[in-house]
Amino acid sequence: MQGLYRKEKTDMLTIQNLVVRYPKTEENAIDHVNLTLEKGEFVCVLGKSGAGKSTFIRSINRLERPTSGQINWEATDLTKLSEAKMRRIRSNMVMIFQHFNLIPRMTVFQNTLTGAFGKRTPYKNLLGIFSEQEKKRVYHALEEVGLEKHAHKRVEALSGGQKQRVGIARALLQDPKLLLGDEPVASLDPSTSRRVFELLKRIHTERELLTIINVHDVHLAKEFATRIIAFRDGKLIFNGKPEEVDDRRFAEIYQ
Ligand SMILES: Nc1ncnc2c1ncn2[C@@H]1O[C@H](COP(=O)(O)OP(=O)(O)OP(=O)(O)O)[C@@H](O)[C@H]1O
Ligand SMILES: [Mg+2]
Repeated sequence: MQGLYRKEKTDMLTIQNLVVRYPKTEENAIDHVNLTLEKGEFVCVLGKSGAGKSTFIRSINRLERPTSGQINWEATDLTKLSEAKMRRIRSNMVMIFQHFNLIPRMTVFQNTLTGAFGKRTPYKNLLGIFSEQEKKRVYHALEEVGLEKHAHKRVEALSGGQKQRVGIARALLQDPKLLLGDEPVASLDPSTSRRVFELLKRIHTERELLTIINVHDVHLAKEFATRIIAFRDGKLIFNGKPEEVDDRRFAEIYQ
């Protein structure tokens, strides 16, 4: 009976021959990268400054436009989609940024609510109208990140770690399948960074996401990742298990 019960296919993201080259530059920022990632993987991306980490992450949700190659997300090639279709798919992808990308003068509640904007009418967004249901979702997300007591504070009055937790609460409102992070802990101290990673890992596991995060701290990557990938000069030079990143690999990645 072999073959009858085939393992359910869980590949979410298949990248083929991806090239990203910025205008007026000589080198490819991402150079012929091939990679398949599955639902449930927590992937940390390593590489020295300029290696291509941000370009890679940003090309997945098309904040950067790929020059050639394919990015297949659940069997749809994102590189071929119109902006309108891409916007719809992007609503299932969230990005957490180093500098939080929050609106400082608005409250924690208002900033978190913006995570739901992609699924609401522009009219409601403009007038700040929200339903009881939406209000509950905001409070629930704030509870998940431990900020429910700060809901009505302005974001500018929060610490860096608290701001990043608002970024994560906002991401939860989007109900994502894919969680992207471009150095989300680079502005935070080591113990706050660790707590943010613990939170991301918990959310990742509970919701069975695919998570891809750039990080400069190899120790954090080794502790939390289920897979590590590394770039050098735009090329994928490592793709393996965290325990395989030993001193020799470390030197190769950062030389
Ligand atoms: N907007 C841009 N225009 C031209 N070149 C760019 C642009 N953004 C990035 N690059 C170049 O592309 C390459 C990859 O940059 P990228 O920002 O992806 O690196 P990174 O690994 O994220 O580095 P860092 O750790 O410093 O954030 C670098 O050579 C960089 O100079
Ligand atoms: Mg970067």
